[in-house]
Order: sequence, then structure tokens, then C-alpha cells
Amino acid sequence: MKFFIDTANLDQIREAQQLGVLDGVTTNPSLMAKEGITGRNNILKHYVDICNIVEGDVSAEVIATDFEGMIKEGEELAELHDQIVVKVPMIRDGVKALKYFSDHGIRTNCTLVFSPGQALLAAKAGANYVSPFIGRIDDISSDGLSLIAEIRQIYDNYAFQTEILAASIRHTMHVIECAKLGADVMTGPLSSIDGLLKHPLTDIGLEKFLADYKKGN
Ligand code: G3P
Repeated sequence: MKFFIDTANLDQIREAQQLGVLDGVTTNPSLMAKEGITGRNNILKHYVDICNIVEGDVSAEVIATDFEGMIKEGEELAELHDQIVVKVPMIRDGVKALKYFSDHGIRTNCTLVFSPGQALLAAKAGANYVSPFIGRIDDISSDGLSLIAEIRQIYDNYAFQTEILAASIRHTMHVIECAKLGADVMTGPLSSIDGLLKHPLTDIGLEKFLADYKKGN
């Protein structure tokens, strides 16, 4: 399972990279705004800064919602760095853009996916990644994880190569459940990765080992 971090915060990206388990970064317009990155040039520069920190894929989202606009923006984003993956929303023109980018060798991540049908369409259009937003489904009293299972089944039935990128991960148990269900990638906050290493018995055990060592030395 690949680990992506879902942030535009360079310090957090550096910290995750230093842990040695980071495979990529996802961003979106809300995450860029949260870091105060505004204006086209600053946003483009920020993507390059992120690419220079991580070794893996960096998703950069288009703002346009019409086909021509998405193609223009996506081509500009893809030109920035070979790690860039163009993030395209699951709308009618987005599906057309996914197919165009697939035919022209530009890698894509289809975002804002909330149903198995949308995921099927994204795979048919040649998306490299599909991003089901599991946390936002949980937020409205539905089951985000069952969407991951449904997409896994559909993709396996037809050997689609599109990678399932579980997004809107909110906590560590989301990561573990997505791993059990066979999601190819998860993207979440740094805290969702940090939670994986915590166990009180590890802390207690280490304390005892060190105390016993001290007794004999
Ligand atoms: O990757 C998608 C993600 O940024 C959405 O997360 O927490 O805003 O639902 P959230």
C-alpha cells in the first residue's frame, strides 16, 4: 500500500518524507488556501517545491470545469515536473479530460468520487488514480469503507489498472481498514500515519528493557 500525505504544508511533507515511508502527496484548492498559497504563479511554484521534497507522485488539481480549460491547465501542470499527476473532478467534462490526458501520456487522479459508478467511469476513461472520499461519506451517516470494497471488486473483475487512492482519510483506523480492503494508496493527514506506530505495550516493553539493561550495567 502506498502512503500519500494529504496536505500542502511543506513542514509536514518534510516530516513525513523523513520518516521514510512517504510515496507521494495530494493537494486540493482548499489545502492550498489553508497554507495561504494564492495566485497562479505562487501555486505553481508551490507544486514544484513539493516535488523537490518528495520522491513520488504529487497531485495538482485543475480549477477549470470545462474541457478546454482543464486540458490547458492540466498540460501546464504536467509541464512543471515529471512527478505531477493532474487531478480532475468527476464531472462530464472531467471524464472527457481524463480520456484526453490518458491518450496524451499525462497521468491523472480523478477526484470527488463518491460512488462505484463514478469509479467505473474514471477507470474506463483511463484515470491512473481514482479518489473515493471516504471521510466525507462517513460524515453523512453512510459507509465510506464499503465504497472502497465495491470499487476493489469492480476493478478486480476487469483487471482495471486504475489505482484506488482512498482519500478523505481522517484517522488511523481508516488507513488500516483501507489496507484490509485492498486500497492501493491512502492519502491522509500526518496524524493518520503517526497513529500506526503507537502502542502502549511497545512503550512499556521498551521502558522495561532499558531498566533491566541499566540494572546489569
Ligand atoms: O484528498 C481529499 C481530501 O483532501 C478531502 O479530505 O478531510 O477535506 O474530506 P477532507
